[in-house]
Amino acid sequence: MSALFITATGTDCGKTFVTAGLLGHLRALGLTARALKPVVSGFDEAAPEGSDPAELLAAMGQPLTPQNLAAVAPLRFKAPLAATMAARLEGRRLTLGDILRACQTAMLDPRGPLLIEGAGGVMSPFAEGATCLDAIKALGLPSLLVSGTYLGAISHTLTALAAMRAAGCAPRAIAVNESLGGSVTLAETMAELAAFAPGVALTPIRRGERDFAALARACGLEG
Ligand SMILES: Nc1ncnc2c1ncn2[C@@H]1O[C@H](COP(=O)(O)OP(=O)(O)O)[C@@H](O)[C@H]1O
Ligand SMILES: [Mg+2]
Repeated sequence: MSALFITATGTDCGKTFVTAGLLGHLRALGLTARALKPVVSGFDEAAPEGSDPAELLAAMGQPLTPQNLAAVAPLRFKAPLAATMAARLEGRRLTLGDILRACQTAMLDPRGPLLIEGAGGVMSPFAEGATCLDAIKALGLPSLLVSGTYLGAISHTLTALAAMRAAGCAPRAIAVNESLGGSVTLAETMAELAAFAPGVALTPIRRGERDFAALARACGLEG
């Protein structure tokens, strides 16, 4: 079973969009691709529709049942804050161990591939005292970095790449996801990034992209 951790330069960059696209592509190849969103905040148990776990279950072709929800998103918090803060408001303490256990449990399932969506950006707080990058490192998983074409995205992408490389967790690929209303074109962003990050697998993703074959290949998910 192969697993991939999907992280980003920041929140709302398109992690769920890209994860859902990859799930659809892999399922079309006949693979039982699964997603895990180990931690989700801003989650309303009474209205789960439209949430990341709901989107991921839909992309897996699975109904939004309590059991499926628990499997895809085991650690759910209500407040729309960083998960650690949302957990504290509920009198809970979210530890890196909690997240690693959730990931490792999902990784034990031989069906695959498994796509794990992080939260926020690569160095967003993920658990008490731990960023997403700490989780990627502890899990020893390959990763995909989702970036954008908004003004400032190149700096955010190169900064994220430097931090990931410094941690020994260089991403397998970068999905350059066209930002809504971005002032820089996808082609311009791709060219700039290619010049500053030679040798990195850069895959462009357009608004409304439906073809995730190149990205799946760049992430080594089809083998
Ligand atoms: N390439 C794209 N084409 C169309 N909509 C997109 C694209 N990328 C992201 N979106 C939309 O932008 C919003 C934020 O993306 P999302 O995947 O939820 O980001 P993240 O998971 O990183 O927070 C969502 O409504 C998503 O559907
Ligand atoms: Mg998301």
